[in-house]
Amino acid sequence: MEIIKLENVTKIYGTEDNRLVALDHVNVTIDKGESVAVVGPSGCGKSTMLHIIGGVDSPTEGNVYIEGKDITCLKDEEMSIFRRRKIGFVFQAYHLIPVLTVEENMQMPILLDHRKPDREYTDYVLEMLGLKDRRKSLPSQLSGGQQQRVAIARALANRPTILLADEPTGALDSKSGEEVMALLQRSVKELNQTLVLITHNVDLARETDRIIRLSDGRIKDN
Ligand SMILES: Nc1ncnc2c1ncn2[C@@H]1O[C@H](COP(=O)(O)OP(=O)(O)O)[C@@H](O)[C@H]1O
Ligand SMILES: [Mg+2]
Repeated sequence: MEIIKLENVTKIYGTEDNRLVALDHVNVTIDKGESVAVVGPSGCGKSTMLHIIGGVDSPTEGNVYIEGKDITCLKDEEMSIFRRRKIGFVFQAYHLIPVLTVEENMQMPILLDHRKPDREYTDYVLEMLGLKDRRKSLPSQLSGGQQQRVAIARALANRPTILLADEPTGALDSKSGEEVMALLQRSVKELNQTLVLITHNVDLARETDRIIRLSDGRIKDN
């Protein structure tokens, strides 16, 4: 079953002299449960594509279907609810709040959604990510790999169906990067998620089910 479908998606930034075509008639479908890597040279449109899937940016042209629903029609408020409930974002930078503990950082999205954190689920996620004994630690007391795992915990807080990761291992040494990748894959399996991962690391890309290659805003050979 397809969960993500981009139909003729074009994204143009700027106007006239500054016009920049970041995505050029992109067509992509991704099935539920798939993990997909997006690769390509810097500036080819990878992050733009991820932002459009996650509803933080909208296409200039074309349609974006998530679970069969066209999100390009959503109003701002509906879009932010869609994002909060369906999408988990992980970035290269961890963006943790330094004065909050591991557990509090993880629960931020739930509190922002005016809901009560589920103790059992929090424990499960912290355990899965190897953070259970660090739940009261502050980000500054953790290694880069551990901080990224907190960022993953935060991305999982609202039980998203889609995980979007933009070079999540980009700031990590290769061992921590491998660990983070393994945890993303484990999360996808155990929580029945779909993963779209941007990476420059060919080895990590090969661990996914499928590689989508972008070049100058266009999909190459698949
Ligand atoms: N907000 C923006 N305003 C103007 N140009 C942008 C913006 N975001 C991205 N771009 C441009 O769009 C192109 C694709 O960017 P991006 O999707 O970030 O590429 P990638 O993630 O593959 O490096 C680049 O040329 C970039 O400079
Ligand atoms: Mg990018």
